[in-house]
Parts: sequence; C-alpha cells; structure tokens
Amino acid sequence: MIISHCYLLSILMHSVSATSVRASTKSVAINVNAQNVTAPFTHIARFFGADEPNYAYFPQGKSLLSDLGNLGPAQTYFRTHNLLTTGDGIPGLKWGSTNAYTEDENGNPVYNFTIIDRIFESYIENNVKPYAQIGFMPEALSTHPHPYSFNFTPSSPYNNIYTGWSYPPTSYQKWAELVYQWVTHCVEKYGTEEVNSWYWEVWNEPNIPYWNGTTQEFYMLYDYAIASVKRALPSARIGGFEVAGGPAGTYLGDFLNHVLNENSYATGKKGSPLDFVSFHAKGAPNFINTTDGNGYVQMGIAAQLQNIDDAFSVIASYPQIRDKPIIISECDPDGCAACITPQYGYRNGLLYPSFTAASFVRALDLSVKHGVNVQGALTWAFEYDNFPYFDGFRVLSTNEIVKPVLNFHRMIGKMGGNRVEAISSGQVDLGTAVTSGIRDAADVGVLSSLDGDRLSVFVWHYHDNDLPMPDADIKIEIKGLPWNGESELAHYRVDDDHSNSYALWLKQGSPENPSPEQYAALKAAGDLATMGAPSKISITGGNATISFKLPIRALSLLVIEKICQ
Ligand SMILES: *[C@@H]1O[C@H](CO)[C@@H](O)[C@H](O)[C@H]1NC(C)=O
Ligand SMILES: *[C@@H]1O[C@H](CO)[C@@H](O)[C@H](O)[C@H]1NC(C)=O
Ligand SMILES: *[C@@H]1O[C@H](CO)[C@@H](O)[C@H](O)[C@H]1NC(C)=O
Ligand SMILES: *[C@@H]1O[C@H](CO)[C@@H](O)[C@H](O)[C@H]1NC(C)=O
Ligand SMILES: *[C@@H]1O[C@H](CO)[C@@H](O)[C@H](O)[C@H]1NC(C)=O
Repeated sequence: MIISHCYLLSILMHSVSATSVRASTKSVAINVNAQNVTAPFTHIARFFGADEPNYAYFPQGKSLLSDLGNLGPAQTYFRTHNLLTTGDGIPGLKWGSTNAYTEDENGNPVYNFTIIDRIFESYIENNVKPYAQIGFMPEALSTHPHPYSFNFTPSSPYNNIYTGWSYPPTSYQKWAELVYQWVTHCVEKYGTEEVNSWYWEVWNEPNIPYWNGTTQEFYMLYDYAIASVKRALPSARIGGFEVAGGPAGTYLGDFLNHVLNENSYATGKKGSPLDFVSFHAKGAPNFINTTDGNGYVQMGIAAQLQNIDDAFSVIASYPQIRDKPIIISECDPDGCAACITPQYGYRNGLLYPSFTAASFVRALDLSVKHGVNVQGALTWAFEYDNFPYFDGFRVLSTNEIVKPVLNFHRMIGKMGGNRVEAISSGQVDLGTAVTSGIRDAADVGVLSSLDGDRLSVFVWHYHDNDLPMPDADIKIEIKGLPWNGESELAHYRVDDDHSNSYALWLKQGSPENPSPEQYAALKAAGDLATMGAPSKISITGGNATISFKLPIRALSLLVIEKICQ
C-alpha cells in the first residue's frame, strides 16, 4: 500500500479534536525548541563490525560496505576480529583469517599482509575506515596452537570457538614485533595522515574466554601491542579495552587503573597512552510462549542500558579520562550475530531498528547524565555471502537486499549540526528504561538536530514486546526556528510499507529464488523511503506544527529545510 499524503500540515489546524482520535491510538505531544542547543550532534551510529573479516572483499560484502560508507557526511568505521588469525582467508561463521604471521623452519618470523590489505582496501575504497583490532594469536605464536581452526554452525555451542587463537603468545617480543611490522606497513602503504584517522585496539572481550590467559598476561599483551603501535606511529589513536558486559564488575576499572597508574610491561614506565575507552553492551531478548502456541519475542533493552550506565559510571570516576571519547564498540540487542534461536527472531523486521533507536539515543542521554563523552555505538552486524534470504542471522543485508535496520542508520546519518531540545510526552524516562526496560507503556521518543537552516526531528515508537499495539497520534510543535517563510518538509519513514524489504519479501511468499522482477522490487524496498513527495510548509514566527500517526515499531525522520530563493 502506498500512502501519498499521510501527514497533516496543521499550521492552521492547531487542535485535533478528541473525537477525531481513534480509540486505538495514543496521543503524544512533542515539543522542539530549535533555539535551545543542548550539545553538538554526535554521530554515534556510524560504527559497524563483524567476527568474520574476509567477507569485506566478497561481492556482497563490498556492496554493503559501499552502503555503510554512504550513510551521511560523518565517517564510517569498521571493526573486525581475526585480522591476525592464521589460515587461508576462506571465511566461516565466527571465523576468518589472514595468515599475516608464520615462521620459517628456523622459527624466524614471516610477515605477509596481503589479505589484511585486501580487507582494509575494501573498506577504504568504499569510504569506510578501519577500527583496527590487534588480534587474534597466530598459530605459530600460540602457546596452545592445537586445535586451531573450527567449524561453527548457527546452533553450535558458543564455546566451540575457543581454540588456539585465544591463547597468550610464546614470545611477547615476537608479538610486539608483529604489531610494529603491521603498523609500519600500514603507514608505508596508506600514509601517516590516513592511518592517524583510524582507531587501534587490542583483542576482544579479554574478560571472557576470548582470552585464555590471566588478567596480568592480558595487560602484558596489551602494553606490548600499544607500545609497538606508538613506536611505529606516535600519533596513532589507540585505546580499549573491548570489555564484555559493560564494566564487567571491576574489570574495566582495574584495567583503567593499570593503564593510568601502573608500570607498563613493555616500557617499564608508569602508565600507557590511552586515546579512547571502549566496552561492549548487549541486550537480553527472550522468547515468551503463549497458550495459543504462537509466542513472541520480548527484547531486553534494560540489560544493554545497564551495561552502558554502569560502564559510564566507572569511566566518570577517573577524572583524568572523563573527557576521553568512548566507543561502545559492540552495542547490540543480543550476544551472537551468527547464532539463530527463537529469541533472535527480531532481526529481519521493525523490532531491530526500533530497538536500536530507543537504545542508541539513550546512550547519548546516559553520556549527558554521567558527564562523559560517548562518540560511538557500534552495530555488530555485517553480512554473509551465499546464505539464504532473511535467514535469521544478525546481518544488515541479505543477498544485497538491505534490511530495515540499516534505514535507522541512514535516517540518523542525515542529521547533524547541533542537538536541540526536544521533549516527547510519550518517551519512557531514562531511569525506568535502564532499570526495567520498555515493558509498560510503549516508548515514543524523539531526537532533534539543527544544522543551519535545516531542522531534523527523528521519532521512534518502541516496546520490548513484539505484540500488536496502538498507533501513536503525534503532534510536533516546533518553535525557535532561525528562519521564516515557505520551506520544504521531507518525511522519511520505516514501517510495514516503507523502507522494509522484509515485509515485501513476506508478501511475495518468502521466495528463496526470487524472480528478477521480485529481486528488483526487494532491492528498491531496501532503500530509505519517504511518505510521498516532499511538501511545502510555512514557518511563521519561527514556529511550525506537524501531525502524523506512527505505528508501533515504526520510525519517522522529518527534515524541514529553508527554500533558498
Ligand atoms: C602472501 O599471501 C598471499 C595471500 O595468501 C599469497 O598469495 C602470497 O603468495 C604470499 N606471499 C608470499 C611471499 O608468500
Ligand atoms: C583454556 O585453556 C585450558 C588449558 O589449555 C583449557 O583446558 C580450557 O578449556 C580453555 N578454556 C576455554 C574456554 O576454552
Ligand atoms: C517454549 O516452547 C518451546 C516449544 O514448545 C519450548 O522448546 C521452549 O522450552 C518453551 N520455552 C519456555 C521458556 O517455556
Ligand atoms: C534547554 O533544554 C534543556 C534540556 O531539555 C533544559 O534542561 C533547559 O532548561 C532548556 N533551556 C532553556 C533556556 O529552555
Ligand atoms: C510560536 O510558539 C510559541 C510557543 O509555542 C508561542 O508562544 C508564540 O506565540 C508562537 N509565535 C507565533 C508567531 O505564532
């Protein structure tokens, strides 16, 4: 169904009479004050990542990288595991390799950065930059090299992955030299200025079995790697610590204390440089059985927000680093992109983008609450070449069909300038969302930005439960616009009928081999769509009023722009 004039421009129609509101809707008042700048607009939703590095140079991977590099003016970054893993470069689920480090028969290092270059070149040629992860342990350096590779399936026990790559090195000197050679190679190949614009970090989630060594051994691994990066490029941007589960008890705080106050294992001097702080935050979805036998997914946004709240609180307690950029370098609804279970049934449709909106904007609000400096929330999802359509993995596209979730990133990518005050009567307050999630009333939240003569108002409608719920009847009153007169209003939308390739695929009968016509339609449905053509709106006294209905789990982005005469 294509709706052409779905929103009312009610400049002269200020009140929606009570009788005209259908019983099945709930009224929400949103007030935007474009004069009240609250903060620079932070483009946090421009970081992505995946366990599997090698798909980056596969055809569908390159196509998706091109989408990611085109989200808007802000720079996109990509983080991946397995950049130093030994193997032939053939990807598998949760697996990948580059063979960057081997040893000859005399135990001398042999470096080969061919496959890493292929990966990074795929990023760079698509306007994406590395958030480069130094890991995992090459087979020739692992203290327990066998078994090394593994075969993961969507229903494998997660622990199957912890093989030889997860162990400490046989020699920290060789480890340090490998890192030095790699960074030096990057500087020679891409230039100082380019490499200065990347992020460098060490390993992944060292507080869980991704690291099969002691905490002190991990500090040693980290200190040697960081010292090597700085030896190769003193201006490189380095940080960490990629901790699983927010602060993970005392892990994040202990690590900060080590880096700030203890002697570096590598240099023997007090402290290590630290340019940004990173940790991971994951939600906890459930599948709720119902007596009719259908059941539904119940998202767990509170778990993710608690990770963020707790980690920000630890970081804020260290005055020396309180202002450092923070990257929530995996910020997802659940913990396993390559696993498929009933509770992960949120990934194809509207629940994923609406969850991401509700949680990412709260990451910004939690940053304000703690007086810290969040710069990124990383979506750990990419794509797998040659898998079925809409197979249930946490991916952004399927057979080059973009899934609805990426249209959240496209919407946010259009915003910019400064964040301005925006208050929604339907937004669940931050404290409630952190402690109990969005389990009672649905959440109609707002984020607004002003960039010159361009105002953006982003609105989402979210609930943890994937159940039918009333539309929100939204009235946005805007004041304080720095211009008057005739303007253009574009209304971008993600819902059942817009920007939703999955809904179309279901209507087509879920074809596993779509016809060329079906495929072309799916591809087009993956694009970010508007509700009809842009319309005219008149700004008087810096004011405007806009009303529209927003279904549950839908997203709207209103962009009002001065028309240049
Ligand atoms: C380096 O690795 C690439 C890709 O695996 C391979 O084709 C090439 O032969 C290797 N170079 C050397 C000198 O071994
Ligand atoms: C860590 O290493 C020990 C000793 O090699 C091994 O027994 C254990 O299973 C490993 N832990 C994991 C999670 O793989
Ligand atoms: C829900 O039902 C499924 C299928 O009958 C069953 O496997 C699962 O254990 C049930 N879950 C809960 C939480 O009861
Ligand atoms: C600006 O917005 C903030 C956040 O809503 C609010 O606390 C503050 O009072 C507002 N300032 C003015 C001058 O309206
Ligand atoms: C603009 O809106 C504000 C607050 O909503 C109101 O006080 C003011 O009178 C409006 N101005 C005009 C010209 O309508």
